[in-house]
Parts: sequence; C-alpha cells; structure tokens
Amino acid sequence: MILVVGGAGYVGSHLVKELVTEEDVVVLDNLSTGFEHLIDSQATFIKGNLGDRDILNKIFTEYPIKAVMHFAANSLVGESVTNPYKYYENNVGATLTLLKAMVDHNVKNFIFSSTAATYGIPHVDLIDETQPNNPINPYGKTKLMVEQILADFASAYQMNYIVLRYFNVAGAHQSGTIGESHDPETHLIPIILQHLLGQREQISVFGTDYDTPDGTCIRDYIHATDLAKAHILALHALLNDTQKNKIYNLGNGNGFSVREVIETCEKVTNKKAKIEFVERREGDPAKLVASSDKVQAELGWTPQFNLTQIIESAWNWHNK
Ligand code: UFG
Repeated sequence: MILVVGGAGYVGSHLVKELVTEEDVVVLDNLSTGFEHLIDSQATFIKGNLGDRDILNKIFTEYPIKAVMHFAANSLVGESVTNPYKYYENNVGATLTLLKAMVDHNVKNFIFSSTAATYGIPHVDLIDETQPNNPINPYGKTKLMVEQILADFASAYQMNYIVLRYFNVAGAHQSGTIGESHDPETHLIPIILQHLLGQREQISVFGTDYDTPDGTCIRDYIHATDLAKAHILALHALLNDTQKNKIYNLGNGNGFSVREVIETCEKVTNKKAKIEFVERREGDPAKLVASSDKVQAELGWTPQFNLTQIIESAWNWHNK
C-alpha cells in the first residue's frame, strides 16, 4: 500500500490515477488547493494535514504503507516571496513531521516532488543534475532544504528516497476526467486556454526583452501523465532496490518560448488570442530546459507527449 500525500492536487491526482492500477493507495490531503473530485475513486481518501502527527500515526498504524509519495506543497513562486512563513511552515516544517513519523513507523521509502526552481538562474542551455543549486526564491529554497534533509535521513536512519525535480508540468489526463485547476490560476497554458474559451479578456505576456530568440521566456513543458509515469518508475526502483537516494530532472528536453506556446494554443484551438505585452514578472529566469538523460538512462523513462499533444489534452479538459 502506498501513501500519496497531496493526491487531490493537479500532479498528485494524475499519479494516483496511474498508481491505482497496480497498488492500493491511501491519499492524505487537506484540500487547501486540491479537490476531492480529482481523486480516483479506487483510492482511500483521508482529509487532513501532512504535519498532523496524530493523523500520520493513525495512517501508519492502520495501513501497511511501504512507501510515501509527497506532492503536498505550496508552489507559487511569487507568493513564496511575499509570504515565506507559509512556505517554510508547510513545505519544510510539515514535511519534517511526515519524515519523522515515517522513521518512527519504520517506513523507509520516499518519493519527493522537487522543482527546477532549485537551480535558480542557470548558466547552461540544458540543465542537468550536476548544475549548482542556487534558488532565487523561498519556494525553491524550501524544496532544496527538504532534499538536504532527505540526504541526512538516508545516512542517519536508512531512509531510501528519490527526488524528482519538475520543470513545467502541463496537460490533462487522457481520460478527460482530471486536469489542471488552480485558484487563482497563474500558469501559462491554462491561462491561455481560459482566455481562448472567453473566460479572460486577454493574455499578459510578462517580458519581451529576455535574452532569447523572440525575447520571451523559454520553458520545458512536460505532460502530467508522463510525470506520473516517472514517479511509478521511481517507486519500482525503490521497492526493487535498483536505485535509491537519487535526484532526477523531469522535463522533455525541448524549450518553447511564451510566444511559441501561445501560437501552439492558437493552432490547437483554431482561435486567435488577444495579447498584451507587459513588464517582466519578478523571479522569472530567461530559460529553463532540462536534460533528462539521467532519468532516461537510470529509470528507463521517456516522455510520450510533445507540446502540441500536451495542449490538446489540456484543451480537451478545459472545454469540459
Ligand atoms: N507567463 C506569462 N503570462 C502569464 C503566465 C505566465 O507570460 O499570464 C510566462 C511566465 O512569465 C513564464 C512562463 O510564462 O515565463 C511560464 O510561467 P508559469 O507561471 O506557467 O510557470 P513557471 O515557469 O513560472 O513556474 C513553474 C512552476 C513552478 C516551478 C517552475 C520551475 O509553476 O512551481 O516552473 O521551472 F518552480
């Protein structure tokens, strides 16, 4: 049985959908940003905080949990700058409580959702895992802190972990039943699609003077289902003891500018977007593109969805 913390969120719910086909799943989520209807009906849902030691004791006593997958974090870069306490409390403090409960209940396997934001402003075109970590916002710092805690827990308490550093997750499940839904929405692809559905006046493009071919920021978009599949491979690796205590980037290895993403959305939907060009958004690096060589070589992961397919799946979900 696997405990998925944050299984009602966008990424967590995609993982649960894949995982229930092979494992019994317990989801712990406080529904602060997730939605109960996103949780696959085959999973057991418990509403609560990951930092609640009583609930954790109950779960680890009642269920034979062999691994924990942790998706329950606050993840808005801008908010982390204005309200760092929330980020350090939830992303680090509560995670520490979860890890200590695991140690006390002898649960040794942990998969952690980390982020490309740990790298800060990269100085290479393709970011691999040997690049230095230099996060430029509290969000990235909290994720890096947990990575460091995990290394210490591995050596002191024999915890086995895999860290997955996500680039830009997008797209919706092929079933059309779950997709990206944040309130407020800040992510590029859902914002464009909401606009093309008539739910927003226009799209604001943040910055046209970056050092990129068309002046807008370049990102590496990865489909939520591809991401979920990487987590399943990571889980197999931990449970079969073929990999442990590793960090992997998760991206497609292809960069697309904001303008290119808008154009692709226009093509997929056959609609024309109204765009306003505004100032840069604080904290945006010009270009973030992953090298996924390590995860491909060591976990055998290959992404299935390109940008057009990612947007098609998201459009299918948003249309519903
Ligand atoms: N953008 C716009 N207009 C918008 C929204 C976004 O121009 O209305 C631009 C952003 O400035 C950025 C790009 O589109 O250049 C992508 O922005 P997102 O907000 O969709 O995603 P981010 O790259 O900022 O952040 C995502 C995750 C973070 C994570 C980061 C790591 O949301 O949690 O990837 O790569 F830290």
